[in-house]
Amino acid sequence: MDKKTQLKFATICARENHVTDNGSPHILPIHASSAFSYESIDASIEVFSGQQEGYVYSRYGNPTVSSVQEKLATLETIDLPDEGFCVMTSSGMSAISTLASSLLKAGDALLTSTNLYGGTSEVFSKIVANNGVEVIYVDFNDEELLSEKIQSHTNIKLIYFETPTNPTLSCLDIRKITDIAKANNILTAIDNTFATCYLQRPLTLGVDIVIYSTTKFLNGHGNSIAGAIIGRDPHHRKAIWTSMKLLGTNCNPFDAWLVHNGLKTLPLRMDKHCSNALTLAQYLENHSKVKKVNYPGLESFTDHHIATKQMSQFGGMLSFELDGDLNDAKRFMDSTQLASITSTLGNTDTLLLHPATSSHLNIPKDIRLSDGITDGLIRVSVGIEDIEDIIEDFELGLR
Ligand SMILES: Cc1ncc(COP(=O)(O)O)c(C=O)c1O
Repeated sequence: MDKKTQLKFATICARENHVTDNGSPHILPIHASSAFSYESIDASIEVFSGQQEGYVYSRYGNPTVSSVQEKLATLETIDLPDEGFCVMTSSGMSAISTLASSLLKAGDALLTSTNLYGGTSEVFSKIVANNGVEVIYVDFNDEELLSEKIQSHTNIKLIYFETPTNPTLSCLDIRKITDIAKANNILTAIDNTFATCYLQRPLTLGVDIVIYSTTKFLNGHGNSIAGAIIGRDPHHRKAIWTSMKLLGTNCNPFDAWLVHNGLKTLPLRMDKHCSNALTLAQYLENHSKVKKVNYPGLESFTDHHIATKQMSQFGGMLSFELDGDLNDAKRFMDSTQLASITSTLGNTDTLLLHPATSSHLNIPKDIRLSDGITDGLIRVSVGIEDIEDIIEDFELGLR
């Protein structure tokens, strides 16, 4: 429209202005637009009614977010014949709550364990349970008890678990759990945030839905909060997308774009996270002031045999217990200089967290302790710095 010369000052300010040039952007553009416009009302109706693919409103879908969703679905299903789907959300927590609200209704039961990220346990006990869903806890390692729970609760519709778990790095045998679930017609969902699809592919092992806090390793740089729900069944996609759209738990295009940027170096970063974490775990295991090291890559770790079955490497997360109490843990954390005391994980730099006083603060003490989250436990997100610097820093803490 060439009305520029006739338009008044305020109108020019208010209108959209797009310059079209030869060539398209090489890098994914951030479509920072709440809505999308059409040349005619008929074209708009075709998209609204679903006769034509297209975007109408960014809570429903956005081209930047779609591009990242497609990449995440492709990575997760790389060794499967079908393409799968991904619905990105505003956070890892909203991925979990969106999933629960799309697959569970009042009267259904959710089977899970207490050994989960603290926020996940809280959303199940304080939100999902309040919506009339029965939340049943089980130790997934106890196969007899697991079968017993499934037989005695015919309303179980979803099994939800994490492996490796936050923060004790316990590993669950994914194939064993999905076999039991399939035999009983129950869906399974897993939080794969610690491992990422680079190290572990739950869909290939029979899981129906994979959840991510993309805030962590997938983004890798600690500059966005977002989540993802990935699966294969188009019916699941429809139910999850509908919940996302109606609850308004959509991911915004800028945060999605940051995840896309981070994904470009995922294999490089993960290789380095893994090799640094293994070296640090071995160092800690041999230190006289350390009582216990939780790292799936250590042969001495209880769940090492499970991890080797389903992970290609053992990840960048570990936790360890000092031969001491809360004060010793605090002293360690205050003495290191390179590692930051930060309540996230998966960044390029090394991060420390004290679960008992942060991520698991609201978990009842008896449950926390029975899951191995003692006052002396410290969680480490091992960064991609030079390993000699990391170890030198830990030496300061362990002096
Ligand atoms: C394993 C795991 N899942 C989910 C979440 C929640 O993710 P977000 O903080 O992106 O909501 C976290 C957060 O720390 C986590 O560690």
